[in-house]
Amino acid sequence: METISKTIFDAVTIGGRKLANRLAVAPLTRVSATETGVPTQEMADYHEAFAAGGFGMIITEGTYTDDLFSKANHNQPGMVNTEQMKAWKRVAQAVHQYNTLIISQLMHGGALSEIAGETIAPSAVQPVGMRTTDSSVPPGPFPLPRAMQATDFEAVKAGYVHAALLAREAGFDGVELHAANGYLFDQFITPHTNLRTDEYGGDERNRLRFLIEVYQAVKMALPEGFIVGIRMSESKVNDLRYRWPGGSETARRLFGILAEINPDYLHIAAEGGRWDRECVYPDGTSSNGIARSILRSPVIANGGMHDVALAEKLLNSGAADLVSIGRAAIASPDWPKLMAAGEPVIPFFKALISPSLTLAHTRSVRGQCNASSLF
Ligand SMILES: Cc1cc2nc3c(=O)[nH]c(=O)nc-3n(C[C@H](O)[C@H](O)[C@H](O)COP(=O)(O)O)c2cc1C
Repeated sequence: METISKTIFDAVTIGGRKLANRLAVAPLTRVSATETGVPTQEMADYHEAFAAGGFGMIITEGTYTDDLFSKANHNQPGMVNTEQMKAWKRVAQAVHQYNTLIISQLMHGGALSEIAGETIAPSAVQPVGMRTTDSSVPPGPFPLPRAMQATDFEAVKAGYVHAALLAREAGFDGVELHAANGYLFDQFITPHTNLRTDEYGGDERNRLRFLIEVYQAVKMALPEGFIVGIRMSESKVNDLRYRWPGGSETARRLFGILAEINPDYLHIAAEGGRWDRECVYPDGTSSNGIARSILRSPVIANGGMHDVALAEKLLNSGAADLVSIGRAAIASPDWPKLMAAGEPVIPFFKALISPSLTLAHTRSVRGQCNASSLF
C-alpha cells in the first residue's frame, strides 16, 4: 500500500479550526511595545509580514495579563486594558488579511519578572541565574519572590480570564497559556521552585493544579471555538540545562494529567533552540512524542524546526502535528514561501531581534523590494 508522507505544507486542524499548513510562528518577544504595554504599528507590521509570508498560525510574544505582578519586561505588550486591546485589534486585522490564525500568548513572569519591585511565585525561592535581559534594571540576581497567597491565586486567574476576553474582543483566534521557560506556571510545575505543602505543591497533579484551574476558567469564560492552548518546556530562560528530574517518566505523568483536560493544543518549547538536546530522553523517546501518544490534542514541536528534514521526521513519526519556528522566522518572516519556492533564507543573528534592524537587513540582502510585503 502506498504511504502518503506528511509535509510541513499540509493543512491541519487545531481546536476545530483549519490551518493552511503545519507551520506556526513561535512566540518571540521583541520588546517593541510602548512603555505602557500598548502594541505599536511596528508590531502590526512584523506580524503581518509573518502572515503574508505564509505561516498558518502566529503565536504572539508573551503578553502580560494584569497590572499587579505579571509584567516581565519593560516594553512588553499587555492585554489588560482597552487601549492595549484596540492596538492589538490592528495587529489581528493585519494578520487576518491572509489565511493565518493569530493566538495571543498570555504570560505571567512570576519570580522572573525583570520589573523592579515585588515579585510573586509559588514559594519564596531565589531563582537561579541572573537577570540580564532588561537594560533598564541593573544586571544581577533576581529578587527573592513572595510566596503566593489565596488572594494572589484569585488575582492571577482573574487576570488570565480578563486578558483572554480582551484577546477575543481584539479579534484573536485563541490564546496560549505560557507554562514554559521558567515563568509563573512553570515555577509551579518545577519541584525546586515549588515547596508548597498545600494542594498546589507536592506531586505532579498538585503542581499542575493551578495551570489546570486557570485553563478551565478561561475555557468556561470563552465561547466554543476560541482556541486555548498550553506551552510547556523543561529548559528555562534562566536555566537552559534544567530537565525534569524523572525524565520520560515525569513526562508521562504530567501529560497523563493534562490528558484529562485535553487542551486545544500542547506546544512543547525548546528555549535553547535544540530539540534533540532539550526534548529527547536517553531512552530515545521525546517529550513531544510522549505527549502525542497520550493526549488527544494536537502537539506542536519546537527547537530548530527550520531543519525541514527534522520537522517532517517528527510529523511522520507521529511525534508532532505542527512545528513552530522562532529565530528563522525573525530572520525571514516569509520563511514558508521561501521554503516552498526553494529560495535561500536569511540566516538568523541576534541583532535581528530588533524589528527595525530586521527590516533594514532584509532590504540590504534582498535589494529594494516592496516593504509592506516584508515588514
Ligand atoms: C528573541 C526571542 C524571543 C522569545 N520570546 C519568547 C516568548 O515571548 N515566549 C515564549 O514562550 N518563548 C519565547 N522564545 C522562545 C522561542 O519561542 C523558541 O522556543 C526558541 O526560539 C526555539 O525555537 P527556534 O529554534 O525555532 O528558534 C523567544 C526566543 C527568542 C530567540
